Amino acid sequence: MRKPIIAGNWKMNKTPEEAAQLVKDLIPLVKDAKCDVVVCTPAVDFAAVKPVIEGTNIKLGAQNVHFKESGAYTGELSADMLKAAGCEYVIIGHSERRQYFGETDKTVNLRTIAAVKAGLKAIVCVGEMKDEREAGYTDMIVMYQTQMALHGLTAEELENVIVAYEPVWAIGTGLTATDEQANETIGVIRKAIAYKFGEEAAAKIRIQYGGSMKGSNVKGLMAQPEIDGGLIGGASLKAADFAQVVNF
Ligand code: 13P
Repeated sequence: MRKPIIAGNWKMNKTPEEAAQLVKDLIPLVKDAKCDVVVCTPAVDFAAVKPVIEGTNIKLGAQNVHFKESGAYTGELSADMLKAAGCEYVIIGHSERRQYFGETDKTVNLRTIAAVKAGLKAIVCVGEMKDEREAGYTDMIVMYQTQMALHGLTAEELENVIVAYEPVWAIGTGLTATDEQANETIGVIRKAIAYKFGEEAAAKIRIQYGGSMKGSNVKGLMAQPEIDGGLIGGASLKAADFAQVVNF
């Protein structure tokens, strides 16, 4: 059985002081969680968050990673740096990075390989835009993005990959994919993984849903057989809201 994983993506929110307070408030609320619990904070918050969550069931994640080990890449962070700062997870290829920061399927692939080789768990995001869904391209887009992102990894390395299906039209909009839509598209992603890595790897990999997931809709989504967790934006910024999702 796949263990569910609920991860908060704080995006560009919370100063170190606010971040430490948020995880302090969160610890007692999620201590009995049946799923893996991750907070992907801004890099500037790692040092404040890490000592607070030490010894708890909350794990630390980053929101991006560069694919080179070191060098003249102003503003970037390497996988080893993230690990040294206490990160176990890293989000890669979020649609906001694809839309606003020139992230491509190629760079998503390079970052995923770098993260996994360094021993991080990669949360790789895929998802279609609104017009792509309306034109009937959803399956094609998510299959292509998934296979491109994971190209070059072995089936064993896939054990350190989580895929997040985030329909772009559902992010921060209050619109959620229906339980059935999310389940169906995640099933397509799992098939794309089966083609490339075999049925066993596909049956093992955890695939999250993301896009306006919150306390009021988490139960229905998590009841779907293909959905193994959530990547949570807005509802991860308050301890009580995030705890409601984690304790679905
Ligand atoms: P919202 O939960 O705010 O829609 O954001 C989802 C997301 O992008 C998580 O990565």
